[in-house]
Amino acid sequence: MIRQQGRFFHLCDGAISYILEILDDGTPGHVYFGAAMADLELEDLEYMARRCGKSTGTVKAIAGTSFSLADQMLEYPVYGTTSFLEPALAMEQEGMPLYLRLAYTGFEIRDGKEKSMPGPQTRPDPKAQSLILHLADRDAQVEVDLSYTIYMQGATVVRSAKITNLANCPRNLTHAASGVLNVRDTGWNWIHLNGSWARERQIVEQALVPGTAVIESLTGASSHQCNPWNALVKSPDSPASCQGDNNLAYGCNLVYSSNFKAQADINEFGLLRVMEGIHPLTFGWTLQPLASFQTPEMLLFCSIEGLDGLSRVSSRFLRDHLINPNFVYKRRPVCLNSWEAVYFTLNEQNLLELAREAAKCGIDCFVVDDGWFGHRDLDNSSLGDWYPDQKKFPSGLDAFARQIRSLGMQFGLWFEPEMISEDSELYGKHPQWAVKPPAGQYSVGRSQLVLDFSCPEVVEYIFRQMCQVIESTKLSYIKWDMNRSITEAYSQYLAQEKEGQKEFFYRYIYGVYALYEKLTEAYPDVLIEGCAAGGGRFDPGILYYSPQIWTSDNTDAFDRLKIQCATSLAYPLSTLSNHISQFPSHQTGRTFTSEFQKDVALFGIFGYELNLIEDHRFSPADLTGQIGQYRQMEPAILHGDFYHLASPFASNEPAVALYWDGKRPQSAPKTASNSHQVLSKQEQAFVGFYQTLSSLHSIYRPALPLPFLADGQYLIQPLQAQSSMQLHLDLEEENPGKQTSDSQSARNMEPEVIRGQLLRHDGLRKPVKNNGSNRNVAQFIGDFQAMIMELKKIG
Ligand code: DGJ
Repeated sequence: MIRQQGRFFHLCDGAISYILEILDDGTPGHVYFGAAMADLELEDLEYMARRCGKSTGTVKAIAGTSFSLADQMLEYPVYGTTSFLEPALAMEQEGMPLYLRLAYTGFEIRDGKEKSMPGPQTRPDPKAQSLILHLADRDAQVEVDLSYTIYMQGATVVRSAKITNLANCPRNLTHAASGVLNVRDTGWNWIHLNGSWARERQIVEQALVPGTAVIESLTGASSHQCNPWNALVKSPDSPASCQGDNNLAYGCNLVYSSNFKAQADINEFGLLRVMEGIHPLTFGWTLQPLASFQTPEMLLFCSIEGLDGLSRVSSRFLRDHLINPNFVYKRRPVCLNSWEAVYFTLNEQNLLELAREAAKCGIDCFVVDDGWFGHRDLDNSSLGDWYPDQKKFPSGLDAFARQIRSLGMQFGLWFEPEMISEDSELYGKHPQWAVKPPAGQYSVGRSQLVLDFSCPEVVEYIFRQMCQVIESTKLSYIKWDMNRSITEAYSQYLAQEKEGQKEFFYRYIYGVYALYEKLTEAYPDVLIEGCAAGGGRFDPGILYYSPQIWTSDNTDAFDRLKIQCATSLAYPLSTLSNHISQFPSHQTGRTFTSEFQKDVALFGIFGYELNLIEDHRFSPADLTGQIGQYRQMEPAILHGDFYHLASPFASNEPAVALYWDGKRPQSAPKTASNSHQVLSKQEQAFVGFYQTLSSLHSIYRPALPLPFLADGQYLIQPLQAQSSMQLHLDLEEENPGKQTSDSQSARNMEPEVIRGQLLRHDGLRKPVKNNGSNRNVAQFIGDFQAMIMELKKIG
């Protein structure tokens, strides 16, 4: 509910309150963001806004007063004012800065959320409410609307800004951030996700000190290096830790998949703000008379349950209000992807052999990865030529796809729609469609160039090509890859249209969104999995269309523990695509038991990237059993809450838990497409225990409290898929020497019934080695051990 009270606006969604005020000069200022406070009166708000003036020594915004913007928490700072931090908004006219004094002129409270711009954004919802604050500088003839949307119990504020040029000459936008998160107090740590190819999203925690800390991408994607998600948590040893709200945590994210900048500034008065938006270095926008520019949305999350609580706030919010609703709560196909099995050596024959094996194991979808089109025998040709390679598919790709379907599986294909190889027919016909300067040197990544998606004709051309393949093969799944960063960002199309080259990155990504939009509209049942050389474009913009994203090219289960832990701080488990892949790991050469790989991959959307013909570790029964386990966990993966119990960044014995109370989230529509085969009405919990390196001297911590459990009795046993249990027994009879750790665990660990209260406060016992004395507890001996325990409420 949103209320205006005097100069205050109070947004309350039942979980959080967000309060802002109109300051003396008409600038919107920030008052409060935290736990919900219902029914605040005007005098309460006046009390909350009361502060000690700190403006001595500053330049005053209003002559003859002590009023300065320097010591205020500003909702949307503007260049050239008495606030000296980097602005959210800066504009120029004929190369000269415009010194804007934007002042409040009115407001609207709108019921419901509507689609307010092209591209990804939080979803329409009749129960949402939006506050639009109208600001204007009448002399400069510029209007700005700040919009704030809340969704009931979302614990999230969605911000964006719309800037309109009312003058009769063009103006240039040089900075247009999406919003600012203002925080009171000192002693905050900034958490963000930093990485590289095959090492995406490692957790970085830095103490914030006066000055500016920045995370950013300039690669043309949200990037492997930084992710737009970031969070603020109280530093445990800061003076702030005596203030009683140590579990307050804030998070930010941006619904945008290209160059972004997020900066955390602490000014001389100790005021902290995080500003986030399109990266101003690679942005410029010409606003013609009466034209508007609307920024992408910034998501501001708040939790009073610390960082882990924040991860659940952001996951629920993304699921309920952003991710493609056709799939978000829908059972996902378990895929076998051909990449690590055959790479570019694929052909009709070896793929069919693989597919026949896959079908025996209960795989749902057979995905042909890179190499099926043009004459692509290596990564140096054919991107842009999206027609099947006759040599590899002499009977035709459509006939091949029919064979896959006749085996009872769906058919899926890899595309890299945004790229062009110089060795391609498309480049021969349209060299001007490649992004590169008209003369001089240009960079090449993976032997390929980027297609100019700022040009609508290019987007339409690729769409038509993809439609032909989609329709002829009747595919059900697309893996949409993007394997190189954008350099020398010159568009011949923009030059020809006399648009500024600084508009390129924004127009490019909206071209990508346009193709996504066309495909998802034309083929709403085709699941598109996002990918960018692994997880180089894992962000809310892509999740709006793609319900799942290939988390990383690094499928080494040890490394994946960290990558998945960090990714799941920001994104729901149902968006992480995890595969069991080749052995030893093709990325690191490390070896694991297949159970360790599986128990890591099961916390996400499960699949395979295996050569089933050559890999003798698995029988079809093993795979059927694993898929059975996934199906048991899947309702909780799609609907439930994820808990990071012990971090792989800090512990040799990481642990995670997944909990679903068995109720469908209110916002999940009960349509057939959302129905889940094994939709459980029962509470479900799964706890994953891992021991990475065996250590005699690990810190002894025998149990992990499970804070989400209710009172009552819980049956605890190692996860075993019902459909697979019998298969395991059969297997052991046939081959008594071969033991899977599931069967080993099952022997070592009898089911137990334990009270919820005890598990909640004292904890679930860990299956770790304990001097061999604890009967009934499965023992972890050696490196890379794992076990998933299932908890069922039985009374
Ligand atoms: C990068 C992806 O992340 C891989 O999974 C694979 O699809 C290759 N590209 C194919 O070129």
